[in-house]
Amino acid sequence: MSICYDSSESLLTLETASSVYQMKIDAYGYLEHLYYGRPAGGTDMSYLQRRYDRGFSGSPYAAGEDRTFSLDTMPQEYTSFGVGDFRTHSIGVINSDGSRCAELHYVSHEIREGKYSIPGLPAVYDNGGEAKTLVITLRDAVTGLVVRLYYGVFHDLDVITRAAEIVNEGTEEVILEKASSLCLDIPFGTWDLICFTGRHCMERQPERRPLSHSVQVISSERGMSSHQQNPFVIVCDRQANEDHGDCYGMMLAYSGNFKAEAGLDQFGSARIVMGISDTYFQWHLAPGESFCTPETILAYGEGLTRISHIFHRLIRHNICRGEYKLAHRPVLLNSWEASYFDFDENRILAIAKEAEELGIELFVLDDGWFRRRRDDNAGLGDWTADMEKFPGGLPALVEKINRMGMKFGIWVEPEMVNEDSDLYRAHPDWALKAPGRSPMLGRNQLVLDLGREEVRDYLYDAMAKLFRENNIQYVKWDMNRSLSDVYSAVCTPSRQGEAGHRYVLGIYGLLERLTEEFPHILFEGCAGGGGRFDAGMLYYTPQIWCSDDTDAVERIAIQNGTSFGYPVSAMGSHVSAVPNHQTGRSTPLALRGMVAMSGAFGYELDPGKLTEEEKQEIRAQIREFHRDQDLILDGLYYRLTDMAEQLPYAAWQFVSKDRGSSLLNLAVLHVQANAPLIHVRLKGLDPQAVYRIEEDGSCITGAALMYGGYTMPILTGDYPVFRLHLVRVCEMPKEKVQPEEEA
Ligand code: GLA
Repeated sequence: MSICYDSSESLLTLETASSVYQMKIDAYGYLEHLYYGRPAGGTDMSYLQRRYDRGFSGSPYAAGEDRTFSLDTMPQEYTSFGVGDFRTHSIGVINSDGSRCAELHYVSHEIREGKYSIPGLPAVYDNGGEAKTLVITLRDAVTGLVVRLYYGVFHDLDVITRAAEIVNEGTEEVILEKASSLCLDIPFGTWDLICFTGRHCMERQPERRPLSHSVQVISSERGMSSHQQNPFVIVCDRQANEDHGDCYGMMLAYSGNFKAEAGLDQFGSARIVMGISDTYFQWHLAPGESFCTPETILAYGEGLTRISHIFHRLIRHNICRGEYKLAHRPVLLNSWEASYFDFDENRILAIAKEAEELGIELFVLDDGWFRRRRDDNAGLGDWTADMEKFPGGLPALVEKINRMGMKFGIWVEPEMVNEDSDLYRAHPDWALKAPGRSPMLGRNQLVLDLGREEVRDYLYDAMAKLFRENNIQYVKWDMNRSLSDVYSAVCTPSRQGEAGHRYVLGIYGLLERLTEEFPHILFEGCAGGGGRFDAGMLYYTPQIWCSDDTDAVERIAIQNGTSFGYPVSAMGSHVSAVPNHQTGRSTPLALRGMVAMSGAFGYELDPGKLTEEEKQEIRAQIREFHRDQDLILDGLYYRLTDMAEQLPYAAWQFVSKDRGSSLLNLAVLHVQANAPLIHVRLKGLDPQAVYRIEEDGSCITGAALMYGGYTMPILTGDYPVFRLHLVRVCEMPKEKVQPEEEA
């Protein structure tokens, strides 16, 4: 039973393989949160709470004469503003009489087979028999506002999802000012918060600090999940590391403005609230109308690695969709860093021909292929080919590339428009802009109001035509600026607080239509690199361009940070030319290949500029990737070094799910004379098995490799790399198995 109701104690218990989540409907009808963590032997965890008179502590008491009861001190499931809990609230309302109170009492609950879905929003799905749903209904007796809390329980995957539906069952309009997806109170323990912060070209860098009495806010108000913060946080025990300690991962499946608030209350109890950002947000609910929040995905596990493994599996199997979700992805060559805007058909065909000779399977034509797109000042919005560059149009080009034996892919940025475009000249009001103001430009472009149906229809028609008329097998869906001037011509002045979320619903709706109609296309998300790298987008695009920074050394840090929440198969990663175009650094092809192969693999350079030796090396890399890709993309990923320690090397490892094979990657980032030996302890192997190391033919037990480790040969030169391929050859002879391992 993954969801259980004990009516005698009014307890609701959710169980996954390695966690328990417990709630209680208390004597006064409030929904209390009791516990989330390691299984605790089927115990009623309400014994953890001890109440006493806090009547003087500034906490109003909600239950008549009972001065020991206060919402301000009680762990709860979904907290509201204005009724005595002064901590971070989950829901904020303005009622028709101007009051801001919503006092939510338990009404009923229901347990359903399968996983709930959320209309218009991405959500974790059940592949059949994997999940159960709990719906708890809460209600404010005065206004009739109803909150339905949804819990999806994936027992074997160790995941609990949460979302809320807010329904106006009253007779007057209610304005929602905040509608979070998750409130998690943790009344015990000493906690750190890890968030993933960054900038363009250095996304998702882990930042860890103690939870404190000042609430920390992790948010984006840029209209996209952003380079600067990511809608994924981890709360972990102060002592937790990769392998040990209580860890809670919380990921919002949403691509727009979000907010996670985490802090300690006056008595040291932790509270984390996560959902759509309430900054600039308002949603009007007329009687009978409802609002659905996006979904937060929760995972509890021992150690950060376990949290990563839970999310990697979940994203690959229960969030990504379409034909490519688990399939091998073709090795691609992208034209952007090869030629930027400077090309015509002959140049593209020359690059493609060289690419084909290297063993590339998919040629991707990046920005610059459409009318008047000679630089980034013009053209966005007009999605037809530049006939000066391509006299035969796209169909002729695609055919020539197909005839070379490669698939064809294309870059688009449908959400944007240049002022210098036919689209903008015809529909200037389709761009987001506030009345009487010139909207801010970003990369010389404006943002189309995806909240408008006619805009979505135009984009659907333009994209569908492009995909239908050409044999397009891959689409890089870009989005190169944040949203400013968020004002929608179709919202009344009082409803402008809805425009940001309506934009996100619009992009999801458009992507849903296109991915459904073109299931054979591999969609890759992108937003100035990894500015919209989130579970919401991964529901539509199984991979996302991880960063515009293709420097292999910087990419190690970016991909390492990204790996805390997201699988390797989701990270678009390319080998580019040296000196690198972003940093000017030169690194060997071996390092660039190793790093790009730890992702959705491809190249982004002009192969015509390579030496014969480099071409041979690339052919070998592609062969190697074909051989290792199952292990890399579907295996378990282990971070072996902590970037925060600034070691002179970085190492990471893949282990197949049956532990039969493994690949260790090590890159020296800073060579030193007379350096200490580099010694790495491997992870995830079968301790009782013997592994053959393909590189030197030696055979070593899994136990030795994990507990003793492996000493690297002396590595010198420019950014040297080392790889170890391990293959299980046999079980360790019985007499050599240590008693502890047998147990
Ligand atoms: C963004 C992308 C790049 C490239 C350019 C093209 O910056 O992240 O990969 O596609 O746009 O303009």
